[in-house]
Amino acid sequence: MKYAKNILETIGNTPLVKINELAKEIPALVLAKYETFNPGNSVKDRMALKMIEDAEADGRLKPGGTIIEGTSGNTGMGLALAAIIKGYKCIFVMADKQSKEKIDILKAVGAEVVVCPTDVEPEDPRSYYSVSKRLGEETPNSWYVNQYDNPSNAKAHYESTGPEIWKQTEGKITHFVVGVGTGGTISGVGKYLKEQNPNVKVWGIDTYGSVFKKYHETGEFDEKEIYPYVTEGIGEDILPKNVDFSIIDGFTKVTDKDAAVYTQLLAKKEGMFLGNSAGAAMKGLLQLKDHFTKDDVVVVLFHDHGSRYVGKMFNDEWMKKMGYIE
Ligand SMILES: Cc1ncc(COP(=O)(O)O)c(C=O)c1O
Repeated sequence: MKYAKNILETIGNTPLVKINELAKEIPALVLAKYETFNPGNSVKDRMALKMIEDAEADGRLKPGGTIIEGTSGNTGMGLALAAIIKGYKCIFVMADKQSKEKIDILKAVGAEVVVCPTDVEPEDPRSYYSVSKRLGEETPNSWYVNQYDNPSNAKAHYESTGPEIWKQTEGKITHFVVGVGTGGTISGVGKYLKEQNPNVKVWGIDTYGSVFKKYHETGEFDEKEIYPYVTEGIGEDILPKNVDFSIIDGFTKVTDKDAAVYTQLLAKKEGMFLGNSAGAAMKGLLQLKDHFTKDDVVVVLFHDHGSRYVGKMFNDEWMKKMGYIE
């Protein structure tokens, strides 16, 4: 009999799927690394498990401990699944701009969720960065994960996502395109791919309201770039240690409207029911089309599932209210 010993053994080995209709304008073969096949429906299961295993190995996380993290939902889901199997408690801190579904989903897998205001400075004691840090200090036998600066995040992608993509494309990948939040995915996958073939180009998808693109191009952390935005999962108002700018060839920024519209289009034109950062990545890929030629193999990674956005990008009333559709 062939079966997984528990749900954690089903993480990884996700399919690569060709994008057809929406990639018509792009001369290259465009393939999606389809991460919703993970048990928590996102790529984050990979790094969540790796961060826990590494913290167990060096004693930061002890038996019966409490896992504390600031999360936009997906990392929380991965951590919660692992916590159930391994016997830990979870407290997650979320910003109030996140979909309600994401909060409900985390509660469904047994986590306690604390919601914080989005529109405050990262240093503000009410911010979700500050609250997660404080809870980490105050809660006995707890471990503050800190996915932004935790090196096991990028390492998970260096050890699993990157090698899978290399193997699935038989080493033919020429470009890797992906949304950037903590930077774990782009940095881990990008490092692995460039070690196999230094000619592979790595492009990050950023949002308007985030610091990444300008910082990469000029070395300046420009606070004027920072303002609230709608797109979920990508862009930051900080520089996480997990973003390795040296392996990133360039960033393109996608508007909130385009990201939302392309989230709908992926579902309607490709049958790919995915999250908001997938819409941003698809539109970013089209913005980059002049970089690709007919012999190229472009892999775009799609982070999470559409079910987390039914109240927003898949709700036409919300889309109209935001002015994204007529
Ligand atoms: C939906 C979604 N897209 C993209 C990202 C960005 O991935 P990474 O943090 O690996 O840069 C995240 C991570 O928070 C996410 O939840």
